[in-house]
Amino acid sequence: MRAQQGGLDVLRSLSPRRLATICFSFFTLAALVVWLSNSGYSVKPDAVHSTPPSSIPAPAAVPALVPSGFISTCGNETHAAARSIWLDADARYAHLMDDKFTIAIPTYKRPDVLNLTLSTLLGKKIPSLYEIVIVWNELDKATPEGFVSEHGVKVRYRLSTRNSLNMRLIPDPEYKTQAILQHDDDVWYEPEDLEFVFQTWRQIGRYKVTGALPRCYNRNAGGVLSYGQCREGQDWYALVLTNLAFVHISLMDYYSSDERIPTLIRDHVDEVFNCEDLAINYIASMLTCTGPLHVMGKAHYHNQDPKGGISTTGGHMPKRHNCLNYFEQVIGYFPLVHSMGSIQRGIPHFN
Ligand SMILES: *[C@@H]1O[C@H](CO)[C@@H](O)[C@H](O)[C@H]1NC(C)=O
Ligand SMILES: *[C@@H]1O[C@H](CO)[C@@H](O)[C@H](O)[C@H]1NC(C)=O
Repeated sequence: MRAQQGGLDVLRSLSPRRLATICFSFFTLAALVVWLSNSGYSVKPDAVHSTPPSSIPAPAAVPALVPSGFISTCGNETHAAARSIWLDADARYAHLMDDKFTIAIPTYKRPDVLNLTLSTLLGKKIPSLYEIVIVWNELDKATPEGFVSEHGVKVRYRLSTRNSLNMRLIPDPEYKTQAILQHDDDVWYEPEDLEFVFQTWRQIGRYKVTGALPRCYNRNAGGVLSYGQCREGQDWYALVLTNLAFVHISLMDYYSSDERIPTLIRDHVDEVFNCEDLAINYIASMLTCTGPLHVMGKAHYHNQDPKGGISTTGGHMPKRHNCLNYFEQVIGYFPLVHSMGSIQRGIPHFN
């Protein structure tokens, strides 16, 4: 009662003009809530609190206006320390070219598959392509000679020290560009599209895993994560695979560093011989608090679909489910952030 009385006193003491402003604001807000509920958004009372909640609520409690998972859980001191190490790395690479890109292609014992991919990438001029580095994981076989293509692209073969999936994410001291296109030996964006994808990376994807293959996760009622394709028509994704994706060299630097989190993650990647692509998504989202970016050319990316890749070996999916759970445990929270749109070259529908 006393509180209400106090409230009335305050109202009486206000000038008519202030009072009018307050009433106007109140009715505008109420109208907005009504309009939003009618327009398909469901606004729970929580959504219009003037002060934000002190901690991010569990996904089920987040108002549908901002879909759960879109809000990153970034922000405590552990995270801030990692971020500052990454920002230092970023400064160390600032002198590298940012208007050209490098392609890194790991390969292991399938020369014909590699040859077709390389021939395709080198066959047409891709203006911003500076260099292709073949990460040679066939340790007992000498690397072929490097060369310069007819369009002036350098091709360099780099012998790995171990046959490890982490080798593709090493920030090679010889790299001359900040943008590294992580590229399997059996896929490609059509050369006509690749320049567009790179320019999209430069404009809006610079510190995101930016590429062709979006993927999703699911968390069951028991809290256990599983990995998979996104559903047809699903309006979010949370990972982009490194089969074909730009990764900034500073993110590769943090991934390859002696810090505790990436070290545990790399050890696990070597142990299961899988999941480096999921791992770099966890690292990128942890450091940047944003999700990945899916980019499509005019043509669908090409997949040679050869027999015998890692994804065809036994236990592939269970290993990947496990990785999602293990990486979450190592990082201490779930860092992935939902991305809700894709970029596509051209105008798909003309109005
Ligand atoms: C692909 O193989 C053909 C035939 O052996 C060879 O002439 C060509 O140089 C190879 N291309 C590349 C990019 O290695
Ligand atoms: C940061 O968050 C993680 C995961 O929730 C937690 O383990 C850690 O103790 C937190 N660190 C600080 C300094 O709050």
